Amino acid sequence: MSGKKKVITVNLGEGGERTYRIVIEAGLLGRLPRLLGDSHPAGRSVFIITDSNVERLYGRRLLRGFSEANIDATLLSVASGESSKSADTVQALHTHLLKLGIHRDSMILALGGGVVGDVAGFVAATILRGVPYVQVPTTLLAQVDSSVGGKVGINHPLGKNLIGAFHQPAAVFIDPDVLKTLPRAEYRNGLAEVVKIAAALDRKFFRYLQRNARAVAEGNARMLPAIIARSVALKAAIVERDERDRGLRKVLNLGHTVGHALEAATRYATRHGEAVALGMVAESAIAVQLGLLPQRDFENLVRLLRAFKLPVQFPTVKNRSLFLSALAGDKKAEQGGTKYVLLAGIGKVALGVDVPSVFIQQLLAERSFIGRFRH
Ligand SMILES: NC(=O)c1ccc[n+]([C@@H]2O[C@H](COP(=O)([O-])OP(=O)(O)OC[C@H]3O[C@@H](n4cnc5c(N)ncnc54)[C@H](O)[C@@H]3O)[C@@H](O)[C@H]2O)c1
Ligand SMILES: [Zn+2]
Repeated sequence: MSGKKKVITVNLGEGGERTYRIVIEAGLLGRLPRLLGDSHPAGRSVFIITDSNVERLYGRRLLRGFSEANIDATLLSVASGESSKSADTVQALHTHLLKLGIHRDSMILALGGGVVGDVAGFVAATILRGVPYVQVPTTLLAQVDSSVGGKVGINHPLGKNLIGAFHQPAAVFIDPDVLKTLPRAEYRNGLAEVVKIAAALDRKFFRYLQRNARAVAEGNARMLPAIIARSVALKAAIVERDERDRGLRKVLNLGHTVGHALEAATRYATRHGEAVALGMVAESAIAVQLGLLPQRDFENLVRLLRAFKLPVQFPTVKNRSLFLSALAGDKKAEQGGTKYVLLAGIGKVALGVDVPSVFIQQLLAERSFIGRFRH
């Protein structure tokens, strides 16, 4: 696997009318204004939406690049962090964009992590009934997961990601070099999703991660383009077959049923990647007990998560009722009871598995529930 430019095409729509490209290349950000300038009509204005951290690190430089390429561009910045995924932020962005004269031929450019991608994408989906947007993800999580697939949205006081739309980007531009400035904890967050994708869908990729665990954990720049490209290609293939999340796309929820409940129970004090890692371990321990997952595969999963410095020891959940009601919330969304996505081997998942509540009780009651499985 080498570090050259990689292009992945996502084929969507009858006749592929919503097909778009995902370009992965080190140093891409510096070339972005020219790249966009080449493929878009003259006179089209670009509205960059970013957050306060990314604005400082990359936003202003990108804005200068547009100006040098004689493309009309404006930069709008929101506060960094999950709290920006709100109706207030969307309203403020709508107001700015309308006052700045956005029209349907304008282009929104989401420059940042998953928060920026989700908010800017939602603004693009809703303003003037939809304007095109491109994703330029700058966290590992956004590069391997949230920037691809067209799910955009914000949080509601009643729950996360409850307000949103499906709005596919016109293109996704990924520059692995920007990960050099990403804090370690944010990098690990993204690695949890990489493990999830490999464990669920691709045994060979999982083995590659095992073989190169140390270099990957350290963020070795030579490996990142290949790792991002493989993760994106796997996700894109699923999105192509189930754009609206009616069935197959649920494989991407591996570790997320228990993970979400843990996030909710700790009032989001647990980072998403850590919750997903713990969710994968807990759900996989259950899969072993159900006779779905070979013990060896479970051990390999736990070992890889550990190598990536992700937590594997399920914590004591203090607020059990919040945990259980979050699980029940996930349940109610599906008619007909608890349906889990469980690992049935590395590279293989079982969808819609019923998990008897006794396993969840055990998970909450015994600190040793997961410890019982050698790892
Ligand atoms: N739409 C989807 O399909 C989908 C999928 C998964 C997650 N999400 C959403 O993604 C969000 C989480 O995204 P995230 O983990 O990227 O968080 P984030 O966007 O909050 O970014 C994390 C932090 O890193 C900073 N940052 C971003 N790029 C940086 C860089 N290159 N260098 C230094 N700092 C940088 C940000 O300012 C922020 O402080 C959640 O809201 C989640 O719901 C969406
Ligand atoms: Zn996730």
